[in-house]
Amino acid sequence: MPRDADAGFRYEDLARFVAGLIERGTLPPGARLPSLREVSRQHRASLSTAMQAYRLLEDRGLIEARPQSGFYVRPPARRIAAPPASAPPSRPVEVAVPAVMLTLIEHASDPALVPLGCAVPSPALLASGALDRCLARAARTRGEALNTYMPPRGDATLRSEIARRALRHGHALTVDELLVTCGCTEALQLALRALTRPGQTVAVESPTYFGLLQVLQSLGLRVVELPTDARSGVDVDALEEACARHHLAACVLASSFLNPLGCTMSEAAKRRVLKVLARHRVPLVEDDIYGDLAFSDVRPRPFVALDPRAAVVYCSSFSKTLAPGYRVGWLAAGERLMPRLVEAKVASTLCSPALPQVALASYLASGGYDHHLRRLRRAFGHTLQQMVQAVTQSFPEGTTVSDPAGGFVLWVELPRPADTRQLFALALERGICFAPGVVFSASGRYGRCLRLSGGYGWSQRLDEGIRTLGRLATEAIGA
Ligand SMILES: Cc1ncc(COP(=O)(O)O)c(C=O)c1O
Repeated sequence: MPRDADAGFRYEDLARFVAGLIERGTLPPGARLPSLREVSRQHRASLSTAMQAYRLLEDRGLIEARPQSGFYVRPPARRIAAPPASAPPSRPVEVAVPAVMLTLIEHASDPALVPLGCAVPSPALLASGALDRCLARAARTRGEALNTYMPPRGDATLRSEIARRALRHGHALTVDELLVTCGCTEALQLALRALTRPGQTVAVESPTYFGLLQVLQSLGLRVVELPTDARSGVDVDALEEACARHHLAACVLASSFLNPLGCTMSEAAKRRVLKVLARHRVPLVEDDIYGDLAFSDVRPRPFVALDPRAAVVYCSSFSKTLAPGYRVGWLAAGERLMPRLVEAKVASTLCSPALPQVALASYLASGGYDHHLRRLRRAFGHTLQQMVQAVTQSFPEGTTVSDPAGGFVLWVELPRPADTRQLFALALERGICFAPGVVFSASGRYGRCLRLSGGYGWSQRLDEGIRTLGRLATEAIGA
């Protein structure tokens, strides 16, 4: 194996090499791996590099340590099917987000509950210490100057940091094409406010994120829910049909790792979507909030990077990777639409608070973000893998579960009709939170589904929570 000049990534190369041997069957399930000492000698790596490589493979579920015996290739986990593609009604509907959504949100960060509910990353997994220092320094050195209104578009240094990172996944943009928002929620809201009028129709994936549905409801928009597959994403033919049959004011899609299904469309499918939308002159609003959380080393490219001329408003935030509490998000749009977006921002919140923006800008400039993301992605990848296993072992026979390649939520579908709202109430009584399926539909679908969040990382508490849910679900469907 070639020697890597960058010692920081050496263990990843070594892990990739061993993963390749496992994939090709050179090391079959159950095979004992060379000892750490052997590996470090064979590959002229330090013992700690070999250890880190094996830990990474363990986190990815490829190998397991057996006490006093060494490392072994793990047998494949029990297979559990992915949920079938959704089949929502093809006509536009008024959005009605069920009231249970508010109960769910109220419990978003309740430490008394097993945190399988809202998609919140644990503060313990975030770069909180480093961010705290950036915030404290900004307050100490520029506190007075920053205690004022910012320009509506937001801090210029933060915008240039965001633009610099966007370039890495092929999205070339200037700071003038960026507007800082209060989280991705405000980005979606401003985009839809600028592109639509009340009563018009917008196409969305089904199931989709309940906060988006809430925004659509508050803007008086109607919704066409598009059939969506847990692996391949939205059905492009159905999108084409919806464009032809209904006068769509916009289409809102996830760039990757759709919340709740976890799917990411292939680049070929994304290009088809862009062509269909361009033909029907429908602007796309894309939500890339989970894009930096791919479990592999390849970050999916957003729609906007595939065709710079496409009519796209790109929305994202730092809420899933760094700081949900800072409420800093952004949108990127072309110069024609930007004045309307700035007007909408002024009407919405005038400007975003200065200190969190300045702290985030200085954190990003410090260069620690990529290292932090690598750790976070590993933690979430490991957590989801363990969660799938717990679901497989404890939910009723015939349950299906998504298999996301990034993000930190799982979508579970029970094999028989059920109302997971009732299950939600029972689970709360037992100190467990999860998201019932109905909140992810504009038309009351997905009663038999539930979304489980792994944002707090794997723990015995999470394991026990899932197993209790499995038992309750088995009783609920009378299995
Ligand atoms: C897909 C998606 N978009 C947007 C948001 C909201 O993001 P923010 O907290 O930055 O407003 C969330 C939060 O759960 C989400 O899952």
